[in-house]
Amino acid sequence: MCGIVGYIGDKQAAPLLLEALKKLEYRGYDSSGIALVHEGALKVAKAQGRLQVLCERTGDGGSMPGRIGIGHTRWATHGEPNDTNSHPHLSQSGRVALVHNGIIENYMELREFLTKRGYSFATDTDTEIAVQLMDYCYHGDPVHAVREAVNMLTGSFALGILFQDFPDQLLAVRKDSPLVIGLGEGENFIASDIPALLAHTRDILRLSEYELAVIRKDGVAVFDRYGTQQAKQPEHVDWDAGAAEKGGYAHFMLKEIMEQPAVIRDTVRPRIKEGRIELGLLHITPEDIKNADRIYIVACGSAAHVGHIARLYIERMTRLPVCVELASEFRYCNPLVTSRTLTIAISQSGETLDTLFALREAKARGSKTISIVNVVGSTIAAASEDVIYTWAGLEIAVATTKAYSAQLAVCYLLSLYMGQCRGIVSAAETAEALEQIQALPAQIERQLAESQSIQYLASLYFGCKDIFFIGRNLDYAMALEGSLKLKEISYIHSEAYAAGELKHGTISLIEPGTLVVALCTYAPLRDKMISNIREVKARGATVLAITEEGMEQVQETADHVMWLPKAPELVTPSLAIIPLQLFAYYVALLKGCDIDKPRNLAKSVTVE
Ligand code: F6R
Repeated sequence: MCGIVGYIGDKQAAPLLLEALKKLEYRGYDSSGIALVHEGALKVAKAQGRLQVLCERTGDGGSMPGRIGIGHTRWATHGEPNDTNSHPHLSQSGRVALVHNGIIENYMELREFLTKRGYSFATDTDTEIAVQLMDYCYHGDPVHAVREAVNMLTGSFALGILFQDFPDQLLAVRKDSPLVIGLGEGENFIASDIPALLAHTRDILRLSEYELAVIRKDGVAVFDRYGTQQAKQPEHVDWDAGAAEKGGYAHFMLKEIMEQPAVIRDTVRPRIKEGRIELGLLHITPEDIKNADRIYIVACGSAAHVGHIARLYIERMTRLPVCVELASEFRYCNPLVTSRTLTIAISQSGETLDTLFALREAKARGSKTISIVNVVGSTIAAASEDVIYTWAGLEIAVATTKAYSAQLAVCYLLSLYMGQCRGIVSAAETAEALEQIQALPAQIERQLAESQSIQYLASLYFGCKDIFFIGRNLDYAMALEGSLKLKEISYIHSEAYAAGELKHGTISLIEPGTLVVALCTYAPLRDKMISNIREVKARGATVLAITEEGMEQVQETADHVMWLPKAPELVTPSLAIIPLQLFAYYVALLKGCDIDKPRNLAKSVTVE
């Protein structure tokens, strides 16, 4: 959730660290800090608030000399966001500085251990324990100190560490939190995310679990947990550096909404070869799918909402039972996994800790595992037997849009593929379904070109205090996402309900003027939705319906309508999400919210 960077080379480190942190601000942004070794001393600058405050305080880094340093943007877990609790943290002796992403779970125990040995603590953070522990373990050999300390930590961590006595080396180590090393010419870097490195290098080393790297300006040595040096192959990333820029749009979110037609094309096209679906599964065979006894989908947030749609697709096409479980719950629910179970993890970042642990739990219980992931080489991708990448490119806005759409497209293909493996979906049905999904990008392009109508509707409703989203079947799954999108960026209270469920309690909240967004795209249940609209209207609600062109009965019942182009049932969710995203965006814009960085949120959730 936090962002980590580090530099060693011949340039002044501080301006470079701050520039790199700007690329990571989307990961967490309640405070930031940098530490450098200069003339034999560790110097730290930290500031509560956005990175801009730190930039102002340090003259964009100009006032801080030193050619080696570490930096951090924080998303607070332990201790409020203030200057003291910001990273980097210094050990009591001032000899060690450290930045951390993750949570040290046994920090209370270690705090007691260190207190008995004369250490006192200046912050409320779990991180400070790690730096004091390294100080305690340090007797002249930094690598030994870090290894010894790391072996005492439980939880998740990516750490960047400086020792005052060793101005020629930067140390990095990780477990369950991402960290990469960027390889330059006469300079090297560390970062929690690749975008921070793109201005300097595209050659990276990914650290595996518990690997410890000693980074000098002219070389990097990586050791495993037991001290054995590892031969690591650098990887070249060809990411488009422009993807990390807004490209003329006011916000990353809008840019990413607009990229959806291209993203769906890029995700779908390589998977269709001569009319066949090729997902590149290397380990899970058609036989495994044929013999499966059930499917679990594990994910969090919007990715779990994709899971709800995928469940309806897969059950329809395979007749297998599918359970969609929030990853944070799945781990602890003693799931009914057998060796015939297939578990699908869905994650944009590939680093969401709950999803990762849910996947590992399923695997440990004998399940076969597939992940649908956007970030290539991420931890979830590496932890699953097979991975299907969504080619959404870099997603920067905290609220997911294009990755969601790409996940939806992959789930559509995967369910068709599984339906074929189980002999339920015929070749002719597959051909028709593939035509439908290939027609989607052009339809979305047309929708996006008419975004002014959604902007107008947003102008009518941005003052609302409570908004309900209702739908049935696929529309209920869409309601979940529409509601989340709106509340996370506009801070308007919003809830999603299965339309038939509202009258079992929640309808008591409907009063004159309450806005109800009613999704009426699922044709088999449209009449029932119209009845549900009437029920809320009878209690004074204002209804904004989403339905297909030509559905006059819906128009007559609702107050306003967001129109969708006519499309086959199973691709309609990919069209329905567009006005929902745009509505959330424009409402947040009119409310003056910080759209790309909504309060309290972070892009990659690497803590439980
Ligand atoms: C909402 C949003 C989050 C993520 C969730 C899972 O807009 O982006 O709800 O969907 O945190 O993240 P990933 O997909 O990275 O596992």
